[in-house]
Amino acid sequence: MFFASDNWAGAAPEIVTAVVRAFSEPPVPSYGRDPSTARAEALLSHVFEREVAAFLLTSGTAANALSVAHLTPPWGAVYGHAFAHTLSSECGAPEFYSGAKLVPLGGPGAKITPGGIAVAVASARRGDPHSVQPATVTITNLTECGTLYTPAEVAAIGALCRAEGLALHMDGARFANAIVASGATPAEMTWKAGVDVLSLGATKNGAMAAEAVVFFDPARAADFLYRRMRGGHLLSKMRLVSAQFEAWFDDGLWLKLAGHANAMAARLSGRLAAKGVRLAWPTQGNEVFPILSVEAAARLRAGGAAFHDWGAPDLAPEPPVPSGHSVARLVCSYATTAEEVDAFVKAA
Ligand SMILES: Cc1ncc(COP(=O)(O)O)c(C=O)c1O
Repeated sequence: MFFASDNWAGAAPEIVTAVVRAFSEPPVPSYGRDPSTARAEALLSHVFEREVAAFLLTSGTAANALSVAHLTPPWGAVYGHAFAHTLSSECGAPEFYSGAKLVPLGGPGAKITPGGIAVAVASARRGDPHSVQPATVTITNLTECGTLYTPAEVAAIGALCRAEGLALHMDGARFANAIVASGATPAEMTWKAGVDVLSLGATKNGAMAAEAVVFFDPARAADFLYRRMRGGHLLSKMRLVSAQFEAWFDDGLWLKLAGHANAMAARLSGRLAAKGVRLAWPTQGNEVFPILSVEAAARLRAGGAAFHDWGAPDLAPEPPVPSGHSVARLVCSYATTAEEVDAFVKAA
């Protein structure tokens, strides 16, 4: 009963096979000048229905931190949800690479709103050298509470960003799950809604370690190749990542894997709810957040279930999380089985 994270899962056989094949072939040029990297970059343009500039790397934190750094001057302000991975769980990497200030905002279900951003921007003292200057907004889709920004919600934030002259970054560590959940195309969820740069994560959805920074305006990516190298994230054997992306996109594998994870989460949440277990946030992708008593959580763990306590009860809808209870996070992956889900529900 492995529900701690989708990165506890191994990697899909198609991905492993592709990597083994890539490393069994004759030598190829290093540092991303190999044919597989060119094919992976072309695939990203195909998937997003426009010419993009894409940069492959191996960690989501690096993708977020380097993206934010590229969009934001050192005197800039970056607005994001206080609970967003970028602000809460990257040990200051975005601040380290950018030198900028990350400004935490609120919002239920870990979602920020155009209104919240507008208030923060209005209170910034533009033109005052004593104040950081509004520069970038970062949103996560799916969010850290498993909730979904619909394309319309992204577009509303995108419109505000345009009006205020801000760049819009999306952390897409679970982008595939968001695409399956929304039914939107990758283009509708990103550049058509005003997203400038996407951190696209494959690692949590069946890859071994594969992330991409995707610029929807290639001109905006100028010099990013230096930033990636200076940050220590240009792999010499880039086919390690490009082979994974090639396999991930082949025959829609990325959407099949995410579809399975989302379906398992829907099964888990539906069956828990039917047993009267309250969920902190609706299940919109591959994450389920039941409110469990401390005793129930301990009993489930003793029975072999792995999951994290998620905290953030203040982000949960009313009524408040009762004392002696906490919000648990259960994440389903491409590898989660229906038997595992049913065993957890039975134990719960
Ligand atoms: C929403 C989100 N963004 C980014 C990351 C960072 O990914 P990585 O662990 O590969 O640095 C994570 C990892 O848990 C995440 O959940």
